[in-house]
Amino acid sequence: MSPQLSIVRDDVRALAAYHVPDASGLVKLDAMENPYTLPPELQQQLGERLGALALNRYPVPSYASLKAAIRNTMRIPAGFDVILGNGSDELITIVSTACAKPGAKVLAPVPGFVMYAMSAQLAGLDFIGVPLRADFSLDLDAMLAAIRAQRPAITYLAYPNNPTGNLFDLEAMLAIIHEVGDTGLVVVDEAYQPFAGTSFLPRLPEYPNVVLMRTVSKLGLAGIRLGYLSAASALLAEFDKVRPPYNVNVLSEAAAQFVLEHADVLDVQAEAICVERAKLAEALTALPGVEAFPSAANFILLRIHHAGLSGAEVFERLLQRKVLVKNVGKMHPLLANCLRVTVSTPQENAVFLAALQSSLMS
Ligand SMILES: Cc1ncc(COP(=O)(O)O)c(C=O)c1O
Repeated sequence: MSPQLSIVRDDVRALAAYHVPDASGLVKLDAMENPYTLPPELQQQLGERLGALALNRYPVPSYASLKAAIRNTMRIPAGFDVILGNGSDELITIVSTACAKPGAKVLAPVPGFVMYAMSAQLAGLDFIGVPLRADFSLDLDAMLAAIRAQRPAITYLAYPNNPTGNLFDLEAMLAIIHEVGDTGLVVVDEAYQPFAGTSFLPRLPEYPNVVLMRTVSKLGLAGIRLGYLSAASALLAEFDKVRPPYNVNVLSEAAAQFVLEHADVLDVQAEAICVERAKLAEALTALPGVEAFPSAANFILLRIHHAGLSGAEVFERLLQRKVLVKNVGKMHPLLANCLRVTVSTPQENAVFLAALQSSLMS
């Protein structure tokens, strides 16, 4: 090892880089992106808006008008504000950094979103994963016992959860929030809220220990990298000190502002995705050798039950047929032989289904 490399933290050198596969030429169903673009006339208007921006200037760090647009469009409760992140990934980092006292811990059900553990590790926090039940529901007794024993500073609950797609039971979440009490924060991560038909947001004012996080990524704006987080104002003010001052660039800021003025377009797209999700789930359930789990998100988790084929082999066969899904089989023992597929357009879903069907024939 070169002397320069030995300067880098041992745990960082031991990490595998976050792997993003090259999707060129493939039907891309691995990252929960919205398959729809803006209509051409809105693209044109957006181009004009972006072209007129003062790119020579830094963003105005208060982001006051975009925050106001988010508060109004997303119905943030009265008296609550938001802070913005370069995707919710950055917000997770901000929360970890802000709470990284020596010995502090992070807890989340597993399998869950990988960044909770990764960001904890990078901030020097211990991560405690509490396994879900086999049906991917919360193991409430295990969660409460772990919270009592470990007193985590941060507990994450993704609502709905990734990669399982289900919504956790609300009563179980409330019991967890109650158990955490004043000794920690509960981050309710609503990345998939546009497809869930429910939200924790209206309850935010009731729970001073809850931090609610969302992203516009799954809504159709993954490319601009924008997440937002809401919580009691005193807490937000502390998180805001950790946020890099110009973390959202002027192009993303203006693009988000523009699209929020046309939020109805995104709502229609999300509705179309929900309709397709029901059709895809039905078609998957009808396929012998495939178990499709219920989803409240824009993706479906499925398990391959095939005497001669593993989930990994089906993943490879799908790739040969130019369809990219996510092989999550190695992420956690509960996900053995599982694949995660984004719900896309009727055309792309049909291509995926046909590819899956032929992949399952040996
Ligand atoms: C539960 C959950 N939270 C947050 C994110 C990250 O979202 P963003 O694109 O805003 O960083 C994801 C992305 O897959 C996710 O699944």
